[in-house]
Amino acid sequence: MLSRINPTKTKAWQKLESHQREIAHKHLRRQFLDDPLRFGKFSLEFDDILFDFSKNRITTDTISLLKELYDECKVEEAIQLQFAGARINETENRAVLHTALRNFSGYPILVNGTDVMPDVVAVRNQMKTFSEELLHGTWKGYTGNRITDVVNIGIGGSDLGPVMVYEALKPYHRSELKCHFVSNIDGADLAETLHGLNPEETLFIIASKTFTTQETMTNAHSARSWFLDSGAKEEDIANHFVAVSTNKAAVVDFGIDPKNMFVFWDWVGGRYSVWSAIGLSLCCGLGYDVFERFLRGAHAMDEHFGTKPFEENIPALMASLGIWYVNFWGASSEVIIPYSQNLHRFAAYFQQGNMESNGKQIDRNGESVDYQTGPVIWGEPGTNGQHAFFQLLHQGTSIIPCDFIGFSQSHYELGDHHDKLMANFFAQTEALMRGKTLEEVEAEMDNKEALQRQAAFKIFEGNRPTTTILGKKADPETLGKLVACYEHKVFVQGIIWNIFSYDQWGVELGKQLAKNILPALSTEPEDANAHDSSTKNLIQRYRKYKS
Ligand code: F6P
Repeated sequence: MLSRINPTKTKAWQKLESHQREIAHKHLRRQFLDDPLRFGKFSLEFDDILFDFSKNRITTDTISLLKELYDECKVEEAIQLQFAGARINETENRAVLHTALRNFSGYPILVNGTDVMPDVVAVRNQMKTFSEELLHGTWKGYTGNRITDVVNIGIGGSDLGPVMVYEALKPYHRSELKCHFVSNIDGADLAETLHGLNPEETLFIIASKTFTTQETMTNAHSARSWFLDSGAKEEDIANHFVAVSTNKAAVVDFGIDPKNMFVFWDWVGGRYSVWSAIGLSLCCGLGYDVFERFLRGAHAMDEHFGTKPFEENIPALMASLGIWYVNFWGASSEVIIPYSQNLHRFAAYFQQGNMESNGKQIDRNGESVDYQTGPVIWGEPGTNGQHAFFQLLHQGTSIIPCDFIGFSQSHYELGDHHDKLMANFFAQTEALMRGKTLEEVEAEMDNKEALQRQAAFKIFEGNRPTTTILGKKADPETLGKLVACYEHKVFVQGIIWNIFSYDQWGVELGKQLAKNILPALSTEPEDANAHDSSTKNLIQRYRKYKS
């Protein structure tokens, strides 16, 4: 069982509060001037990835106090429980073992005394065989044509992970197959995707842990109709529809042959399922070998996370810095900015990863918390973000810690694009840290009258915290390491905040209400007062406009 420690009642919490007051006035620019060794003290390297924490509002005392908090909240104990398959998802009475899906250590992982690794390996082999048959053209469509397009139908964790990785690893796309992803119940998503596809050469992966999610099942049924309406027969479905799920009965009910089903288990959370058979579209679109490299990268990060002491433990440090800003500096959001166009869905992916995991206000004792938990996560690739929201990062009133992610090598040899991209990457973290003083503004302006009018607006306070993550190349292993690192960060934060990170009851109410409202969109409900006056009038107006 996980500990039940209110973090605000720890000694470390009180010390961190007074420490924050002590260093609140310290400017990072000053700290760099005073300590030429600052970078070395606050950066860590893991394989080919450098994590530079030195542009954060920290001192060596901050790290010691965050370690005290980490120890008092018994995080190491929690890590061991998670890795060992304990039922740490207590509200759903489940183990949390996405790490088993990428376990290449050769050691068994037990759930209820049974080693799960043979089943994990069997499904991986099934994914390998299936994707190779598709890529080699030995798996044929019902008219004998080879499959050219794979459409993954899923939502949330059954979509965001595959999309993010498929995009991030664009340079590894296989020319034999194109992957498409449909998630939204808005008919535009499926209709636009199917437009131009040939049913004889299209294969659908219906990806849903529960196989009951309204969006996915509606899209899956419409895809099935599209396929059958094209002239195919029921028995042809076997060549064109496969399922990834934990719910065999529902898969069979849909009409998918169980031999075309790829299973996973209740100990894989939806938002942590990209490593499971939910990654099937990735095996098809990138090749199984690339998918396995991605898993192996994550495994390397798991070993690091599971064994390193706090001061050398990258996910633990990232998590603790997040808590430092949220709980001691009042930050309510965090931004992730990859300087890599291919990583354009990375922040969206961790929006679910963080916000569905740590967007909780009830602690592990069942009590309301009286401190902040998960922040809002957002972000877009640089340099685009610079021309959109960076103004607020530089001169806004909120403190918004930023993660900058960039790579030394580009997959694309295109003039000096990459150096220009990375010049911006380095310039932004420096600018956010340094700011611009009145003296510097004065030195730039000869026109004294303009200076008087504009000086205040041209000053940058600086002292804005950033973490820089610089990798060698955005290859599959590196991506696996980064994703696993952020996953572990979320876990550590949940432990310290004393919340359960692996359930998501908060998404249920809206789903229930949508089901109740659906009939009222076509006919006046019998109970005219079933809804509040706003919802009732909106629904009535919807029906009027519709007709
Ligand atoms: O609505 C939230 C959620 O349950 C997510 O946690 C999950 O990733 C998503 O829905 C999709 O669920 P499923 O894979 O069961 O269709």
